[in-house]
Amino acid sequence: MTFTLQPVKGKEFINRTELLEEMVAELKAKRSTTGYALYGKRRIGKTSILKEVQRRLEQEDGIVVVYLSVWDIIESTLTEFCQRLSLGVIEAYRPHIGLKYRANELIRTPLAMLRKILEETELKIVYNEIEFLITRKKDTDEGVLIEHAFNISEKLGEKADIKCVLLIDEFPSIIDLKSNNLKVGEAVLRKIRTISEDWERTTLCISGSIRSTMNLAVLSSSSPFYRQLIVKEISPLKQEHVTKLLSQHLDISQEGIQEIYDFSAGIPFYVQFVGKMLERTEKNTLDSIRRVEREFLAEEGNILFKEEFDSLGPKERLIVLSIASGCHAPKEMANTLGDKMSNVNRFLTYLGEKGYVSKKERGYYVLEDPVFERWMKEVILEADTVDTNV
Ligand SMILES: Nc1ncnc2c1ncn2[C@@H]1O[C@H](COP(=O)(O)OP(=O)(O)O)[C@@H](O)[C@H]1O
Ligand SMILES: [Mg+2]
Repeated sequence: MTFTLQPVKGKEFINRTELLEEMVAELKAKRSTTGYALYGKRRIGKTSILKEVQRRLEQEDGIVVVYLSVWDIIESTLTEFCQRLSLGVIEAYRPHIGLKYRANELIRTPLAMLRKILEETELKIVYNEIEFLITRKKDTDEGVLIEHAFNISEKLGEKADIKCVLLIDEFPSIIDLKSNNLKVGEAVLRKIRTISEDWERTTLCISGSIRSTMNLAVLSSSSPFYRQLIVKEISPLKQEHVTKLLSQHLDISQEGIQEIYDFSAGIPFYVQFVGKMLERTEKNTLDSIRRVEREFLAEEGNILFKEEFDSLGPKERLIVLSIASGCHAPKEMANTLGDKMSNVNRFLTYLGEKGYVSKKERGYYVLEDPVFERWMKEVILEADTVDTNV
């Protein structure tokens, strides 16, 4: 393996040693149902941590692990989510309950036959749940759906005396799933929280990238999972780990590493990406590294950031641009934009909730992602100057 844009685990996984050890020790403890909430911006390495936790836990006895990302739910429906979760749990327990068929074969089996197959396995205790999944009517009650999906692991866990760790990536996005064509909303979080309070064999670990929805789910004192999960904020890699990641696959000088560290601010996705581009260059001189970084911004940046930038409202765009051009105080922004302070503050709050901007100190705002910032500077702002010069 070389540089990759996919989540990493095993040998490719760099650092996060203490966090991993803590999580694995807690999660493998048979009598503990304490779970974790990983929180950090996109591309910082949350999915990789979940996958690495999964890999390590799978080497332990008496435990099964299920990974599911809400962002992978194709139709964005609560039903699909519940089905995928239930099947994942059944599949994970399969070796322990004497089931010969794969979980997703079960749901294609006619009911009469299914009953017969399940009679012979420990799965008969969840027959009702499985039948429910297969025969679900169009307007199934959301609460019942969730209850079934989140209780299969409890029942199987008790029967087989095996603990289940559910790793649900981008968990807060559950509120955006649809049921009967409407968004399910926050109620679904409270429902899951209530179910999880009675768990003895199941543990929930989640991640989330979007600050506002993470607040809604876990972080704020009125949220359903407040103090229910151990919250860990995931930070960028330190310079020594960027060094390790780069020199694992590249012949690169210390100043070259420094350049990439400064460019990426230790966000592993950018380090991997620049590393991947450098693999194709002959010699990794400082000049060639800088050229590759500019190329990255111009080509990849337009794919990665353009959409994000366009998804912001017009005022929000003006504000992020003004921060990128060096304005950090709301007062200054209000002056240059010719807008009211109260408006600027309101949009700064929105941008903060979406994870684009953070308040460094009173009256001083910065952009969270330095690469996004540089893209705005070099691609958007400079294009603007060229335009006005013409
Ligand atoms: N610990 C790590 N070591 C090496 N590369 C990593 C690590 N964590 C993340 N990466 C890289 O960073 C990128 C984003 O990782 P990912 O886990 O998908 O982040 P997130 O889920 O937070 O968006 C991927 O290219 C991945 O290979
Ligand atoms: Mg992810």
